[in-house]
Order: sequence, then C-alpha cells, then structure tokens
Amino acid sequence: MLFNTPNRLSESRSHAKGVQETAFEGPSFHDSYLKDETLCVRDLIQHLSLDSSARKAILEHAAQIIRDCREISGHGSVFDAILQEYGLSTEEGVTLMRLVEALIRTADADTAHLLIRDKLSDRDWQSHSGDSPAFIVNRATNGLSMSAAWVKATGGQSGNKLISKLGDSVLYRAIKTAMSVMSRHFVLGQDIEDAQSRAAPFAKKGYSFSYDMLGEAAHTWADAKRYKASYMHAMTEIVKTASADTVFENSGLSVKLSALHPRYEIAKKEACVPPLIQDLIDLALLAKNNNVGLTIDAEEADRLELSMVIAKALLETPELSDWDGLSIVVQAYQRRAPDVIKYLLDTARNAKRRFSIRLVKGAYWDSEIKRAQEMGLESYPVFTRKENTDVSYLACARQLLEADDIVFPQFATHNAATMAAILHMAGNGSGYEFQRLHGMGGILHDEMMKRTSIKSRIYAPVGQHKDLLPYLVRRLLENGANSSFVNQFLNPDVLPEVLAEDPVSVVLSHTEIPHPKIPQPRNLFNGARLSAMGLDTTQTNVAQHLESLPKTYKNIKAQTVVAGRNQRGKIEPVWNPSNVSEVVGTVTMTTQAQLEKALKSAQNSKWISQTTAQERAECLRRAAKALQAKRDKFLTLCVKEAGKTWQDAIAELREAIEFLEYYANRAEDPSQAGRTALGVVACISPWNFPLAIFLGPIAAALGAGNAVVCKPAEQTPLIASAAVSLLHKAGVPKDALHLVFGPGHTIGTALIASPEIKGVCFTGSTNTAKVIAKTLADTDRALTPLIAETGGINAMIIDSTALMEQAVSDIVAGAFQSAGQRCSACRLVCIQDDVADGFIEMLSGAMEVLEIGDPAKLSTDLGPVIDANALGKLQNYISEKRKIWPVLGETKLPALEIGALNGHFLAPIAFEIPRIDVLKDEQFGPVLHVYRYKAKAFNKVIEAINGLGYGLTFGLH
Ligand code: FAD
Ligand code: 2OP
Repeated sequence: MLFNTPNRLSESRSHAKGVQETAFEGPSFHDSYLKDETLCVRDLIQHLSLDSSARKAILEHAAQIIRDCREISGHGSVFDAILQEYGLSTEEGVTLMRLVEALIRTADADTAHLLIRDKLSDRDWQSHSGDSPAFIVNRATNGLSMSAAWVKATGGQSGNKLISKLGDSVLYRAIKTAMSVMSRHFVLGQDIEDAQSRAAPFAKKGYSFSYDMLGEAAHTWADAKRYKASYMHAMTEIVKTASADTVFENSGLSVKLSALHPRYEIAKKEACVPPLIQDLIDLALLAKNNNVGLTIDAEEADRLELSMVIAKALLETPELSDWDGLSIVVQAYQRRAPDVIKYLLDTARNAKRRFSIRLVKGAYWDSEIKRAQEMGLESYPVFTRKENTDVSYLACARQLLEADDIVFPQFATHNAATMAAILHMAGNGSGYEFQRLHGMGGILHDEMMKRTSIKSRIYAPVGQHKDLLPYLVRRLLENGANSSFVNQFLNPDVLPEVLAEDPVSVVLSHTEIPHPKIPQPRNLFNGARLSAMGLDTTQTNVAQHLESLPKTYKNIKAQTVVAGRNQRGKIEPVWNPSNVSEVVGTVTMTTQAQLEKALKSAQNSKWISQTTAQERAECLRRAAKALQAKRDKFLTLCVKEAGKTWQDAIAELREAIEFLEYYANRAEDPSQAGRTALGVVACISPWNFPLAIFLGPIAAALGAGNAVVCKPAEQTPLIASAAVSLLHKAGVPKDALHLVFGPGHTIGTALIASPEIKGVCFTGSTNTAKVIAKTLADTDRALTPLIAETGGINAMIIDSTALMEQAVSDIVAGAFQSAGQRCSACRLVCIQDDVADGFIEMLSGAMEVLEIGDPAKLSTDLGPVIDANALGKLQNYISEKRKIWPVLGETKLPALEIGALNGHFLAPIAFEIPRIDVLKDEQFGPVLHVYRYKAKAFNKVIEAINGLGYGLTFGLH
C-alpha cells in the first residue's frame, strides 16, 4: 500500500532527450498527495518496523546526546538565549521577528523610526525582565522596556519632536545592530570567496559544505539572470577547491529552481522546464568535471511534480551519465514523500545513475497549511502533527538505507532523536552523511563527528542582506517555534528524555492521528459551514481534466423563464470573448409583456409569506450542493462565455457556492427572526462575476423570503440561465424566481420602474446605480431599498517597509487578474519615493512575464476583456494617455496568435501619473496608475485618495 507505484502519466516518453524535448511529462502523485493522514502514518510505522526495544535504545542514546551537548554548551550562544526568551509563542517574540524582517529592508530612517515606534510601543517587554539565564538577553530586555517607555513618553507612535528623534536614533542604531547580528548568524559570507574563507575553521572539524546562493522566487528575468550568474560564479569558485576524488568529500552547491525562472509554475511547464534543465546542465557540467555535487532544494508542495520532471530529465541526460553528484531534496513532511522517493529510485535505476537524496523534514509547513485552507483542499499535503513528520522522516530514511545500491542518503536534521534513530538503523553502514544548516545544530553535529565515522556537511547560505529575507524568516520561524527541536535543545526546563521521546510511541499514544486543533482545510468556520471545495490545478490530473472540458459544452441555450416556463422571443447569439467567431450559445430576449407576467406571478408567490426560514435555507443548501455537482459545466461557461481563466472561474464558482451557504445560514440566524420580507426584489447583476454576483444577491433576497425577478448582464445570459434552472431544481418555486433578458435601458429600466418591485439589488457601474436611484425616485418610490455595489478608483499605498516582491505579486493579481475587470481591482499605486525605482523595475519585469491568450489554456494569465465596446474604450484611453504620461510597464500582446483567435485582448499597461487628482474615472480593464510620493507627504496622499470621490477597496503594504 505505502510504497505503491505512483500513477505516472507517460514515463516512457521522456527518455534522455534532455532539453530538446517539448512535452515534458512527469509523475503525478495524486493518490498520495492528500492521502488520509491516519492511513499514511499507520503505513509509515509499519514500514519503519522499529520494535519497542529498538525504540527504547534510540531514546536512551538520544537523551544521552542531549545531556552531553548541554554540558558542553552551557546555555548556548546569545542567539540561542534570545530565541529561548523571545520565542514565537510570545507576542513580544512575534513582534521582534516582524521588526527584524521589515527593518532590514526599510530604506529611509524616518520610516524606520516610525516602524520601530509602532512595533515597540504596545508590548509587555517588562514581563521578560530578568527571565533569561543570559545576562546580555536581560540587558536587551531592559533596553526594550526602556525604549517602549521612551516611545510613549515622546509622543507615542508618531514621535515628531526633535528630542524623540534624537533618542530614536540611538535606539535605531541598536536595533539595526541586533538585526545584523541575527542575519549574520545564518549566513556564512557575503559572497562565495568570503564564505569559502570563513569556512576554514569548520572544515578543520571535518565538515564539507553545500553552498547556497541566497535569492529565490525570482519575479523577473533580470532577477533570474542575476541568480543564475551568481550560481555559475559560485560553482566556478567551488570547483577550484575541490581536491578530493569523490563528490561525497568535496563541497558542492545547492540551488533553488524558483530563483532561476520567474515563472517556475506547473501551469508554465512547457515554458519553464527546458530553460531550467539547461541551467542545471550548465552547472552540472562544471560540477561533473571536478567531482562536485549539485543539490536541488525542495520548495513549495505545488512545485513538487514540476521538480520531479526536471530531476528525471537530469538523471537521464547522457552527458551527465558518469557523474554521481546530483542530489534531490525530499521533504518528509509531505504525505507523498515515500512515493516521491520510490519514483526517484526507480528513475535512477532505469537510467543506471547513482545519485543522492537529501532527506529533510521541510521548511514551508506554515505556508502549506495556509495554502490548503485558502484553496479549499480536501486535506493537507503535509502532516499536521510534528511527530507524524518525525515518523515519516524515519520511514523515508529506512527506505533510503535499503536502496544503497543506487542512492547516497544525506540526512539533514538538527534533531538528536532523529539522528540517534538513523545511526541505529544504519548500524555499521557508512554510505551516508548528515547535514545541518549554518548557524544551527553545531554542537550536535560536532559531537556526532567526534564519536562516529560519519561525516557532516553544512548548508551554507551566501549573499547579501537584500536577498536574505525569505530564508531568514524560515529560520526564525524554525528556531522560534516551540515545536522545533532546536528551540528546546538547550532549555534546561525540558528533560532530555522528554525531548528525545520516540515519535512512534507518541503517535501511538494519540487517539486521533491528525492534530485535533488543526481543522480540515475547509472547516474554517467552527463547523458552521465548510468553505467551498477547491480545485488544485497544480496537480497534473486536475489540469488535464480542466483543459479537456471546453469541447464538452456546446450550443447552450438561455431562455426567459416566467413562472417556470420558457418564453419565446427574439433569439440572439452569445459570442466567446476570446474568439468572436465562436458562438457559445443563444439567448431569447424578454418582451415587455413577459416581464409583466413575471412580476404578477412573483407578487402572488407563496414563497413571500408562507415559507419558513428553514425551508428557504434548505433550498439554498441544495442549490449549493447542486452547483458543486455541476462544477465542470459552470467552470466551462465562465471560461467560454465570460472569458475567465480557469483560476478565476474556480474562484468564482467557490464564491457562488459560499454565497448560497452563507445566506442559508443568515436566513436561519435568530437575529433575522420576526423580520418580514419586502416582496418582489429585482436583482441586476454584472458580467464580470456572472455566477457569484448573479447568485449572491438572489440567494440573499430569496433567503430573506422575497420573490425575485433577475436580469443578468447582456453579455452573460447562459451562466445565469443555468444558475436559475439549478435553483428551480433545488426547490425554489417557479413563481418565486423569474429570469428576464434584455438591455439595461429597456428591460432593466422597465423592471426598476415597475411598482411591484419593492427592493433592488444592483452591482455594476456607479452611473447605472445613480440611474436606478433616479428611476425609483421618478416613480415615487424613493424609499425603496436599493443595495448597490459599484466600482471605484481603488488605491494601494506602499511605503518603504514593504516587501517589494510581495507588493508586486499582489499588484499584478489585483490590477491584472480577470484582465482588470473587477470593481475591486487595484487602479492606483502610491509608492514611496525612496523605494520607487526598485519597485517600478520589478513591476515592469513582472508585467513582461505575463501571458495573454486563450483562457481555456491553464498557462494563460489574462484572458480577453468582455466585448468590442469595452476594448475600444480602453484602447482610446490608453492611446490618449500614452501622449502625456510615461509608460512604466507593459505586457507584450502576442499579436499573431491573438489575431488568429480574434478576441478582445488588451495588454496590461502601467502609467506614471504626476498627481492623484488627474484620475477622474474608473478604467475597467488592465490599466494601472503609479504615483510617487515623498514620505513627508503621506497625509496628503491619503487626502488625495479620499478626494477621488469613490473607492471600493484599499490596499496597504
Ligand atoms: P525538528 O524540530 O525535529 O522538526 C521540525 C520539522 O517538523 C519541520 O519540518 C516542521 O515543519 C515540522 N513540523 C512542525 N510542526 C509540525 C506539525 N504540527 N505537523 C507536521 N510537521 C510539523 N527544507 C526544505 O523544505 N527544502 C530544502 O531544500 C531543505 N534543505 C535543507 C538542508 C539542510 C542541510 C537542512 C538541515 C535542512 C533543510 N531543510 C529543507 C529543512 C528545514 O529547513 C528544517 O531545518 C528541518 O525541517 C528541521 O528538521 P529537524 O529534524 O532539524 O527539526
Ligand atoms: C531553506 O531555504 C534550507 O532549503 C532550506 O529553508
């Protein structure tokens, strides 16, 4: 069961053709990706097969190691003492970590002062006073307490007075020094030459190194090229000092693939795999000639399949055939780990290539948990208890030790219990090594090397402060979390026997294998409802399924529905906005007489006064289930009728399901008891969220006991029709819900002007909302409730404390996702002048790597705008503004292909504007405006944003 063969898609196709091959097929581990945690752990324990006496011996050995190390180290370094006192389970520890991570990159002193004041002021530093066994930590605590008092005494967070500034600069310097001590703790050198010279004392103790050039998650080609050059340079230097005959003795290099390509994503497989393989071959050829190793680090779980495609290609590259130096990192915290190892072993055996696997537990646990929750996955790709990860690590270690014909295991751990277990399992064998991170596990590995013949290698980060951040945050999380071995290692309050406890016994002592306090990813609302199920398009099987759908749904019909009966009328075609010669379906227009019939029928519906909240809620819940069941059809309609990308379509479907569930709960909420319905409500919805914003207001109105006449946007009748039919089938009576089609200025106006309408829900432009309000007033119904969600010129402010990579990712998503056709889209970025140049460079680079095209392809980032009218307006705006504003960034429109598709495509563009008040109207497309502000003018920026007159969302970095 456990070590079953992964479902490989076309293993035989990618044989040793290296970078020449275009279709890179790889493994799919979907059977074990989200495998039930209990089953996983039971299988692992069985495979581990360590009996209780072996486990007892390991525990005793580990406890002894811990005792010995504690004796040698005393209370450890200052750094250990700081982390013990200010761990991440204390609010002050979290505050310090936030301060470290933001202060390092804050360019200007004024903003840095404000940041320090903001972070220091409302924390209880005094509560740490005198607690640490280390004098210097207590002194730091006193300093922090005094500083906080100083901040309060000198005007709180703003601290404008001269005296406060003078005092702050002392504080600022002290904190900056502390920051740089912290970051130096984890970095061996600023460049490879520096690192190699600092490596000497460690080498004397017997260590070898795997140098890691800092920098990851490139956002632009410029970054990726810079990182590649730094890896190549490092490798050139490393090979110069490689004097041993084997890769196992020489120092090597570790690389992160996300550093080498700005779109290292499964959706971009065809584009990113060939250059990545080529980059690695370039490095590997240098390494090979000098018996040096090259390790591919493991990153986020959604990149695992992609990394396996690349690993396979390297194992099968003929030029590298007589080189044993390739090492692949496998993360034991992933439930797929045993299958991944089996896949790598099989691939290497087929290719007749010896290689290494570095077994780690994993460094991205927090983000994997968050991602699974955000995506609404059925379960987590990682384990939820620390001891489950530990058991997995040992079972994987066993798997590696049993495959010594083909693999050289590299056990990366700072945990004495894990180390003791491996030493026990390996017995007298010596064909493996241990590894540790620079700045961690020093005493443990020193002692291990003194007492055994097994060697250790240090993973040694090299680089500058600006590239350190993500790595540093992972290390601080790791060292600060009380679940980490290193956090407790030197803590005298934790008994060695407790710290060394055998994970199998701990697992067996639990009644529940998954962590009871980590709910399943969809159970985020304390059981009130589940979040809507997501679809993980990073899984090959899911991606293939989605891309096969568009063929399935054709010739869809939308008809006016009055009292459940389809009505006749003028038939019009519905075009695909990404291919205007493709008719997706047809719509039958509503006549005035049909509208009147609908209104009469709705007015007399028993739903309005003779249903219970529970009955109405049940209908909505049934509809939510039906929507999930019909997922494929609705997703395809979103893609074909509204031009949505798959990602946008999935988000839309989930939002629609959640609206139904949410309003079902609201209907039954005791706070709603005794409230009466309005009567017949008109729901008018836009094309940009043709399912979610269509169904949301309808669900709200129906849930509250109103009958509904709904009119979707002219551009998206097919989705609306399918959704209404689904609601009827779920039990909403035919007379309680009617669907009409037609232009806003005819049918829309007639609907609003009807005296039967007792409430209006509208989402769309501010102008139309005003017209609706006026129509209500003109028909003597000014007090009729009108709920209008309209657009806005939405701004984001970025100051110099912001992490630019994060800000740029958010802006690209906020401004350009859905081709900018969201009322919540970011239209204006106000960037602090001190960091503006770097920001603009990164933004422009990130815009360059966006892909515009057919949304039915998963690799597409931006689909079309909705129709020719929208396109024309946006094009006019852009050509007019090009004459007066500098263009900061622009995506390339692949003219030929798009022309062949004949859709309404528009390339994203970013302008620099001289003043905020030059913006007058919302541009409903991928057009971004950037404004530079001086830090001192911050308040004026806020005034100017407020002066724009309207905004729906706001962002702050
Ligand atoms: P321990 O304290 O025994 O274990 C910590 C592990 O337990 C972490 O993985 C943590 O996520 C996990 N854990 C904590 N709480 C839970 C929970 N509730 N449920 C499940 N699991 C939990 N990691 C990568 O991802 N990619 C790499 O390429 C990589 N390279 C590394 C290279 C070296 C040389 C080393 C030493 C580590 C590397 N790591 C990598 C691993 C990572 O950075 C940590 O150092 C490692 O996971 C710590 O393991 P440990 O045995 O020292 O510590
Ligand atoms: C990380 O970068 C060590 O690769 C691991 O966190």
